[in-house]
Amino acid sequence: MTLIKDNNYLNTRLKIKYIQDHTQTSDNGFDVIQGLTQQPKILPPRYFYDEQGSLLFEKICDLSEYYPTRTEAEILQNYAQEIAKYTGSCELIELGSGSSTKTRLLLDVYQSLDYPLCYVPIDVSGTILEDSAKQLLNDYKGLQIQGIVGTYEAALQMLSSRSSSSKMVLFLGSTLGNFSQTECDRFFAQITAALQSGYFLLGIDLQKPIEILEAAYNDSQGITAAFNLNMLNHLNQRFQGNFDLSLFKHWAFYNTQEHQIEMHLICQKSHTVYLAALDLTVDFQEGETIQTEISRKFNLSQMEQYLETQGLKPLQSWTDPQKWFGLILCQCR
Ligand code: AVI
Repeated sequence: MTLIKDNNYLNTRLKIKYIQDHTQTSDNGFDVIQGLTQQPKILPPRYFYDEQGSLLFEKICDLSEYYPTRTEAEILQNYAQEIAKYTGSCELIELGSGSSTKTRLLLDVYQSLDYPLCYVPIDVSGTILEDSAKQLLNDYKGLQIQGIVGTYEAALQMLSSRSSSSKMVLFLGSTLGNFSQTECDRFFAQITAALQSGYFLLGIDLQKPIEILEAAYNDSQGITAAFNLNMLNHLNQRFQGNFDLSLFKHWAFYNTQEHQIEMHLICQKSHTVYLAALDLTVDFQEGETIQTEISRKFNLSQMEQYLETQGLKPLQSWTDPQKWFGLILCQCR
């Protein structure tokens, strides 16, 4: 992990560190080569998030069919006081902070309790992190922000070498659902190494009727379809590719055995794609798919048991009246 840039000059209340993760195969496109040369083809969901993809994701969060964002916000709104009672005054560290909208619900309560406000947003997008940090500083007068621009892995490594009195790591939005089981196990090993002691607040999407799940990933305005297809645009720009977006269609369905939404792009006509920066030629057959994302839907009590095996002791969980989404507060042992 390397520190690229340290923006201490921004503001006495705002510091941002830009770090690079050398353990990632990320920027050389090795994961793209691997994913597009295997059968069936697969691409990592991190390629959704270029500037356009991040904007489309913000739009998804506001869609009437996409219930996770507003349901999690409703739970936070109702139970932030209880969460603050458990944790007492502590530094809030958020993985994948994005626009930090839901974090405000916690900051409001911590502020009302006169806790010193210290926030560590972590995101791969420097622009989004900087913009939302500046808005937060305007709205919360005593707030100190120490942002980190980088991957979760690199940021968690950095946090493990930093001591702080008390901290709570927030991992909201059911981003955990986008990890395979192996990725989950690795992630929790990094969390417990970084936290040592402290709290962990996890937001997870829960299992529910298939119609509600499938509607959330097949919205009537086609925003999720545009988000899915935009991954090809991102690859074109990043690796000088010639994907023709009109030759692919969005496909999302719920896999009832695996309890996961699967997003794919289906090829409409046999053709060949070339990515010049990777010197990679890929043949596509009509009807062939590229899997772009899994979004796992969990069972709350199974997740609590799993967290316990990972060294995180669940203290309390909260849900909405329909039990569509869950928040679990854990203590690291
Ligand atoms: C970021 N992640 C939790 C979203 C999800 O629901 O799995 C990404 C997403 N994909 C399509 N819609 C939203």
